[in-house]
Amino acid sequence: MSKEEARAYKSLCTEFYDLTKPLASGEEVNFYKEKLGNKTVLEAMCGSGRLLIPLLKVGLKVGGLDYSSEMLAHCQERLKEENLTSTLYEQDIEKIDLPHQYDAIIIAIGSFQLLHPRETALKVLTKMKTFLNPGGQIFIETFIPWEALYENNEYEEEEREVEKNSHTKIHLRSVSHADKFYQFIKSKNFYKKIHQVKTIQSEEEELYVNWYYRYEMVYFLEKAGFKNVELYDVNFSQNPKGIVYVGQNI
Ligand SMILES: C[S@@+](CC[C@H](N)C(=O)[O-])C[C@H]1O[C@@H](n2cnc3c(N)ncnc32)[C@H](O)[C@@H]1O
Repeated sequence: MSKEEARAYKSLCTEFYDLTKPLASGEEVNFYKEKLGNKTVLEAMCGSGRLLIPLLKVGLKVGGLDYSSEMLAHCQERLKEENLTSTLYEQDIEKIDLPHQYDAIIIAIGSFQLLHPRETALKVLTKMKTFLNPGGQIFIETFIPWEALYENNEYEEEEREVEKNSHTKIHLRSVSHADKFYQFIKSKNFYKKIHQVKTIQSEEEELYVNWYYRYEMVYFLEKAGFKNVELYDVNFSQNPKGIVYVGQNI
């Protein structure tokens, strides 16, 4: 499979994501609203707007960046439905190149953990810093996939199905291997869109989810040049229990 074929968050993944992940909860939105007020914000890896749209609705000035044209197309549709506007960049965060700097950058709900391997994640952090105004802050939410750490739980196969409408459903089969020593899960996902009994579309993707413990993540942010790193233990409904790390560009 080519790199593009293996890429995650294509068309069926986007549909599945939006059918299974509701818009961000009030707690998650208020967390960012309280901290960001009227600052200029970029949500990197914003996807289809699960967080970006509610943040715009409460008055924050937020732009978005994502490499998935499918996720961004759905985000644009939702913006239109809500009569909202935002500047969205279709870019790979590894090659981020923006026309201006922001007061804050958010990477929500574990998206940072998709950057693989870790050297890439560190390069991305270092690069993101250059798109922050002096004194600007990066907010990164991460979680630990505790189930993968239990003994003999390194291999997992899972099937899920979600209804699109009364005749159409999307079926997902995932096969995952956790590497506890290198702290990542590699998953292969197989999506099928089934209309009545016929498969009308299928899609495959490969993704990595890395995990970071709290001291590592602080060290990582400091290594990328961020200062005054703060930690918030968060338990936003609908998201895995996690930590939001805030680093400052000084
Ligand atoms: C778990 S989704 C989160 C979407 C959104 N932030 C949310 O809170 O629902 C992860 C997103 O990261 C994007 N992504 C993954 N790797 C990326 C990369 N290298 N550059 C830009 N976006 C990336 C995916 O396309 C996807 O939309």
